Amino acid sequence: MRIKEEIIFFIENDFIKHTENVVDISMNLADTFHIQNKKALMEAAVFHDFGKIIMIDRLAKRGPLSKTDRKITSLHPNFSISMTGDYISSDAAILILLHHTYIDGTGYPKVISGKELPLQILQASDLYDALNSPRVYRKRSVDGWQEIILKKVGNKDILESLSGLNFKKLPHFYTMSQIVKDKVEHYFGFV
Ligand SMILES: [Fe+2]
Ligand SMILES: [Fe+2]
Repeated sequence: MRIKEEIIFFIENDFIKHTENVVDISMNLADTFHIQNKKALMEAAVFHDFGKIIMIDRLAKRGPLSKTDRKITSLHPNFSISMTGDYISSDAAILILLHHTYIDGTGYPKVISGKELPLQILQASDLYDALNSPRVYRKRSVDGWQEIILKKVGNKDILESLSGLNFKKLPHFYTMSQIVKDKVEHYFGFV
């Protein structure tokens, strides 16, 4: 596979599909848990990984990431905010910043994580998709994904709701992921 094809494949599968799934799952959970500021959660779900776009050529490579690549990747929440800050509320920006800062002390950036429901929903939706969606290097779910989510997010009720979701039948309630597609096109001139 040539480098441009690898990047397109990554954007369509790992990037856009993942974004759409996280939007769908988090909006379902938002309804279940009667989240007030659903708009902020949706904005955060749409743009949470957008900062990855600046390192997409590295991420699209097959095989494990180098130490440097991992370090750069850990900055993606910050990049997501600085690249989309004009479009999102401050509530959404905080959710994006903390979407990988877990209560068990793992993740990044290393700041105090919150226990607010919208953040837990975003983290759980993101982890759920990351651990259950097929990837080029993995065909099935990661063993023990439930324990991983419980440890990192710490909310049994959310885990129970996730386990009950019929994931494949989730409709795409929102089309905000189109914004992501438009922006990818703006940056790269394709997709
Ligand atoms: Fe992320
Ligand atoms: Fe993500």
